[in-house]
Amino acid sequence: MEKYHVAVLKEEVLNLINPQKNESYLDLTAGYGGHASMIMQITKNYQSSVLVDRDPVAFKYLKQKYKNQKVQIMKLDFLSASQQLNDQQKKFDIILADLGMSSQHINDPKRGFSFLSDSNLDMRMDSNQELNAFKVVNNYSQQSLQKILKDYGEEPKATLVASLIVKNRPIHSTYELAQICQKVWPGYHKIHPATKTFQAIRVEVNDELNQLKLSLPIWFELLNSTGRLAVITFHSLEDRIVKRFFQEIAGPYFDSQAILVNKKPVVVNQTELVNNPRSRSAKLRVVFKK
Ligand SMILES: C[S@@+](CC[C@H](N)C(=O)[O-])C[C@H]1O[C@@H](n2cnc3c(N)ncnc32)[C@H](O)[C@@H]1O
Repeated sequence: MEKYHVAVLKEEVLNLINPQKNESYLDLTAGYGGHASMIMQITKNYQSSVLVDRDPVAFKYLKQKYKNQKVQIMKLDFLSASQQLNDQQKKFDIILADLGMSSQHINDPKRGFSFLSDSNLDMRMDSNQELNAFKVVNNYSQQSLQKILKDYGEEPKATLVASLIVKNRPIHSTYELAQICQKVWPGYHKIHPATKTFQAIRVEVNDELNQLKLSLPIWFELLNSTGRLAVITFHSLEDRIVKRFFQEIAGPYFDSQAILVNKKPVVVNQTELVNNPRSRSAKLRVVFKK
């Protein structure tokens, strides 16, 4: 639903995965059903389709949205969901993962994802999990924080940010954390000084890169022959993982298992960029299973 989230690269997803009537569909980040509805309107195969999201708000929304359809909806992280489906020997013709946050996460100040509103440090997609941003910011060692800021945020001043975080503990709110980043990067910048720090902490809280790395081979396993796997990423760390995995399975050998549907990632066009600025870093890669 547009109020909660505007799905990105819709046309491009349709063009590259080319859904057909009766095909089965697995959506690993179903969110508010933007992509799912578009695809299932074509496949019309609700009973063999599965929608996954770890977020309780999205899950409740999906349950209500599809209450008259026989589609399976799972409230789980996508790694656990994929393992379960694989154990059950399920297969799908189309698999989509549209990674990262929904606009609902950013727009609801209580979720603590945004540095533009003041709230508790939370950033959990699954509000029932133990680890949250407060614990990362206040309990992790300076060394671990520095590593996270460097590895998950590519923050050039990771050492300084980590040391100021430790000096200013306890840090309770998103504004307090953002203020530290502003001290490190005074003056005007094209991107907000807290962007990389917030990304890093969010990736740590939700274990985003491990989820992706460990899930990709299972997603490929879950595909039927002639199936298509599409992944939309929102930052270079995610895109690198997807690119490498796709290159590995679609290697140049005669017995490779896959074909790259697009060699270069598809990005948004100018119209989408203007209408939905959140889409600016989206990259779509699709692979076809032989
Ligand atoms: C960009 S939104 C997807 C929006 C969706 N494609 C749509 O059209 O409405 C990403 C969604 O994936 C969920 N998500 C992110 N990482 C996840 C994970 N590891 N396991 C399960 N859900 C995840 C988030 O909760 C969020 O709702």
